[in-house]
Amino acid sequence: MRHGDASVRRPIGVFDSGIGGLTVVSALRSLLPNENINYLGDTARVPYGGKSQPTVERYSLEIAAMLLAENAKTIVVACNTASALALPRLQETLSVPIMGVVFPGAQAAVSATRNGCIGVIGTRATINSGAYERAIRSISTEVRVTSHACPLLVPLIEEGWLNDDITDQMIHHYLDPLLSEGIDTLVLGCTHYPLLRPAFARILGPEISLVDSAQNCASAVRDLLLRENLQTSSNTDGVLEVALTDPPDNFLQVARDALQLDVGEIQLREVAHGTVK
Ligand code: DGL
Repeated sequence: MRHGDASVRRPIGVFDSGIGGLTVVSALRSLLPNENINYLGDTARVPYGGKSQPTVERYSLEIAAMLLAENAKTIVVACNTASALALPRLQETLSVPIMGVVFPGAQAAVSATRNGCIGVIGTRATINSGAYERAIRSISTEVRVTSHACPLLVPLIEEGWLNDDITDQMIHHYLDPLLSEGIDTLVLGCTHYPLLRPAFARILGPEISLVDSAQNCASAVRDLLLRENLQTSSNTDGVLEVALTDPPDNFLQVARDALQLDVGEIQLREVAHGTVK
């Protein structure tokens, strides 16, 4: 069944704990240029990466509800921590299709590996949740997964230290143990990490395939819209609206420059507590 035109002009709602999810928006804009996108970053409560599951679930439900109040036709959880900890709650609670970043990343990693050894990096909450291991094992039981939390990479990226000796040392510190395990594929399991892609590629070399959750999530959203008949029929450029729950800091400029993304005027929203539809 084809939904009415008004329905398919509804925006794709995208949320993240903060600004890092703009990496997913950038990939969505490239792949689905005619779709309207409403992005909501929970900058008032970032980071989610060290918080407990009940807290991440509550925050995610509140932010997603705000996007639904803006008539979002689907919700993209452009945050690895929220995808790892809150996706089941979001799926059982919300009335629109939900897409996270973990499963698309897991699928891409299984396709990319040649020797069956996959490394995953992310926030402490993402890694401790075991969500990537579960997703990868649900696709293939033949692969071995080694994971490592990299809590210091997010602040370095937010400071804009994308090409810096200290960042390189930190990458070595976190990734050398994974390399010793013989991984040939690395999942960048945090929204911020695609901004460090050039540094990862330079340090790890061409033998290690980098799986970027932003690009794979965007492809999965395209497939979801097609499957649900929710893709826009418009041929004009989609509109991107970016809202945050607290005024932006320096990281917005870092992300905007690195992604070459025009985010327009940033709007501020107050978190609507406890309103889940
Ligand atoms: N957006 C988070 C993620 O992708 C990173 C920042 C945070 O800890 O909230 O896991």
